[in-house]
Amino acid sequence: MTQHENRILTSSSPDQTAAFGGALGSVLQRSTLLGLVGSLGAGKTNLTQGIGEAIGIARTDVTSPTFTICVPHYGRVKLLHLDAYRIKDGSEVDELGIDEELEEGSVIVVEWAELIEEFLPQFDVMVTLQATDEHQRRIEFEARTEKGRRLIEALPDVG
Ligand SMILES: Nc1ncnc2c1ncn2[C@@H]1O[C@H](COP(=O)(O)OP(=O)(O)OP(=O)(O)O)[C@@H](O)[C@H]1O
Ligand SMILES: [Mg+2]
Repeated sequence: MTQHENRILTSSSPDQTAAFGGALGSVLQRSTLLGLVGSLGAGKTNLTQGIGEAIGIARTDVTSPTFTICVPHYGRVKLLHLDAYRIKDGSEVDELGIDEELEEGSVIVVEWAELIEEFLPQFDVMVTLQATDEHQRRIEFEARTEKGRRLIEALPDVG
């Protein structure tokens, strides 16, 4: 099984980053776990807004959940938006019931994914965002599962 499919995109604006998220959102299936890696202000929330919009969630509803850890949104698919920045130990992750959410079909997006990766099932796609200058972001989509590989293969041509 080839699981190493990846895509590297360059974004020049927040709108373009959201559009890249939208591309991913447009081909998303239920029960998908997406990880976002990147420092403060890299564009993780911005990308999540695009993902949400593609599944029928208003962009303005998706905000930085830093103080709440986990926010559910109800679009065509339930989107759970997690921010792991303030999670201190694995038991906090267990309380979120991620396995059950995935079984029920939710799409889960985790900001600061690397901080809780060891407590979660395998990410289908890991997205790494890196600021290369004030307005430019290098965005890499990396498949970690067969499902993720198919997702990346199906991504529309956005950049
Ligand atoms: N090309 C770009 N793509 C995304 N954001 C950009 C881009 N250029 C500039 N920005 C700015 O970078 C910031 C990205 O903020 P965002 O909240 O999405 O980051 P984040 O990675 O979620 O940060 P945090 O770790 O605080 O949650 C915004 O202020 C946005 O205007
Ligand atoms: Mg954020």
